[in-house]
Amino acid sequence: MSFNTFGHSFRVTTFGESHGPALGCVVDGCPPRIALSEADIQPYLDRRRPGQSRFTTQRQEPDAIKILSGVFLEEASGQQVTTGTPIALIIDNVDQRVRDYADIKDKYRPGHADYTYDVKYGVRDYRGGGRQSARETAMRVAAGAIARKIVPGLQVRGALVQMGAQRIDRARWDWAEVERNPFFCPDAQAAGRFGEYLDDVRKRGSSVGAVIEIVAEGVPAGLGAPIYGKLDADLAAALMSINAVKGVEIGAGFAAAELPGEENGDEMRMGNDGKPIFLSNNAGGILGGISTGQPLVARFAVKPTSSILTPRRTVDRYGRETEIVTTGRHDPCVGIRAVPVGEAMVACVVADHYLRHRGQIGDAPAWPFAPPRGR
Ligand SMILES: Cc1cc2nc3c(=O)[nH]c(=O)nc-3n(C[C@H](O)[C@H](O)[C@H](O)COP(=O)(O)O)c2cc1C
Repeated sequence: MSFNTFGHSFRVTTFGESHGPALGCVVDGCPPRIALSEADIQPYLDRRRPGQSRFTTQRQEPDAIKILSGVFLEEASGQQVTTGTPIALIIDNVDQRVRDYADIKDKYRPGHADYTYDVKYGVRDYRGGGRQSARETAMRVAAGAIARKIVPGLQVRGALVQMGAQRIDRARWDWAEVERNPFFCPDAQAAGRFGEYLDDVRKRGSSVGAVIEIVAEGVPAGLGAPIYGKLDADLAAALMSINAVKGVEIGAGFAAAELPGEENGDEMRMGNDGKPIFLSNNAGGILGGISTGQPLVARFAVKPTSSILTPRRTVDRYGRETEIVTTGRHDPCVGIRAVPVGEAMVACVVADHYLRHRGQIGDAPAWPFAPPRGR
């Protein structure tokens, strides 16, 4: 049994460890004749790449993507396109420092998966956490770049909306601002505060968590399946699978529990284009596990970075109580680099459901339906 694959029709298998020679993935199920080159993938990896500001780990990884299979230079168009066969992608690891981990190889780092990997497998790659390392999420971002190309008109964007106890002011939300500050924060004023706050956290050798919001626009109505194939269930599973994520909500999420029914249920009207308009989006674009055509809205909470400079109590793999200090290079808020990862996971889930819908339904009868005579 192995669990390194996700998706059904758009299927992604990742492999590799933090301090192994390379990370890779195989994307199976991508339709043929989609223009695809490294240049389509690299910009997304560059947004996740470490060492870009003083607020993320100083590990220097270029994360240069190489496509090994599944593409062909089409003569007619002169473009490199997907062939419908498995697309294998690879990134070389170049900046490993094993000595950073020599002191802690037998000890379990609090908040990390050292104990659980050891108790489950009986062997553990202690170099940067091996497979438990979030280096693996680079391949999710690469797969997400392909997923974005599958659904026509799909736009998936993410933003950091809370850092520690500090929140953005949603009235100041500006998507353009997300690309202008090192936090992917949509509120320029909050980004300024986050900078000062995180500098203080970093200097104290501490860490903080974050909340990230992902919005997917251009998702057609009808994706997702009832009961066991719910779009919201798959989104939650995909986001929850990201390292350090401890909570996921869709639309109004946990706040929906406080709303009365007359506020929560999104009322409907007809738009000029013959499609329904929802007067609010507390559902986060999903009803009964099926997309409404409104933007999908999901949020996830990321815990504070576990590797901090404060000594912590722990045990070692021989059952002895001890203390541990994690040196090495770490992000003071891993939620920042989780933004492109969250976007990628949502893109993969939407692409998977788009292909699943096409497989089962094909072209559904056009909505609105003609009323029966006399009604
Ligand atoms: C992009 C990203 C980067 C991360 N970098 C670090 C890090 O530098 N130090 C650390 O302690 N945890 C880091 N993490 C979180 C750990 O990988 C994660 O907490 C650990 O593997 C235990 O898994 P769990 O928190 O999902 O239970 C990162 C997570 C993400 C999403």
